[in-house]
Amino acid sequence: MNGVYRATVASNIAFLKYWGKRDARLQWPANDSFSMTLSRLCSTTEARPIQASDHRFVFAGQAFSRAEKRFAKTFQQLDDLTQTFGFRDQLEIRTENNFPMGAGIASSASGLAALTLASLAAWLKAPDWQSLAAKGFSLSRIANLARQGSGSAGRSLFGGYVAWRAGDHPEQQTIEPLFPAEHWDLHDTIVLFSKGEKSLSSTEAHAHAWSSPLFRTRLAGLPERLAAMENAMTHCNFEQLGPLLEMEALEMHAVTMTATPSHCYLTSDAWNFLASLREARRRGEVHAYFTIDAGPNIHLIHEASEHEQLKRWLEERFNPQELLHDRVGQGPQLSFLSE
Ligand code: PMV
Repeated sequence: MNGVYRATVASNIAFLKYWGKRDARLQWPANDSFSMTLSRLCSTTEARPIQASDHRFVFAGQAFSRAEKRFAKTFQQLDDLTQTFGFRDQLEIRTENNFPMGAGIASSASGLAALTLASLAAWLKAPDWQSLAAKGFSLSRIANLARQGSGSAGRSLFGGYVAWRAGDHPEQQTIEPLFPAEHWDLHDTIVLFSKGEKSLSSTEAHAHAWSSPLFRTRLAGLPERLAAMENAMTHCNFEQLGPLLEMEALEMHAVTMTATPSHCYLTSDAWNFLASLREARRRGEVHAYFTIDAGPNIHLIHEASEHEQLKRWLEERFNPQELLHDRVGQGPQLSFLSE
């Protein structure tokens, strides 16, 4: 069927971080990770077969060639999928994010997931989930292909709360939803301390993690932390979950700061904010815990009932455009627009 295949995929925020790879070529993570798929912060990607000698890639209305470094993963993913499945068509890919790219809110997760889903749908001429599955492309298989493009992308293909398990061999990796969005309506309010590109790409940071003297100790303790998180999730126990989120984020950043070369993603404003958040929590003014990905922006995880109070507290300190409000989401959408 000729037409445009459109995928809308939300970003995800890791509660337990994927940080470090056991095998970079096979995209095999050093540890299991666990995340919440968001609802509003999305990448929307449209793919359409074209007659041309190469793919055409348009981001936010502007065309970019293969030579553009920041879209290297995009072209690599298209090439890898072409090679694996022998697809013949070149594609026109048009994509947009509704949040700043590379600012530490995992645009690579939603971007690579939406790219993988839309381009597979276009190559396979599969306008919906049923046709994809009928051609052998279950959601799990698509998630597994997306994570080869960017690790965290695999988790964005499911809604709710999602685990990516490393397994004992690279081929044993699994990505699966553990709890649906309805299980617990958690929110993520993001305070933007930088809208620019990340100061160190996650690809480089994953590679440097092994040089930190803290890294092996971290890996040894993660199964216990993950079990505690899953227990907190099972019982919707926010008092148990919150401190685990903060310990996990601080540990990931401690690894990065103690790696060679050493790197710190957080700005002094972001560090100061963490201190004021903890103080406000101690005084009972807010009830939220932070987590931080590979950037300076702070994600405040909280229960739905706490959102209004947190929002008021934040709006006394930040401009509305420095805040993004999101919550757990349902997972990707796929649609077909006939020409
Ligand atoms: O998918 P990558 O290679 O951009 O790595 C993601 C790393 C973190 O966002 C910091 C953690 C995670 O699990 O999403």
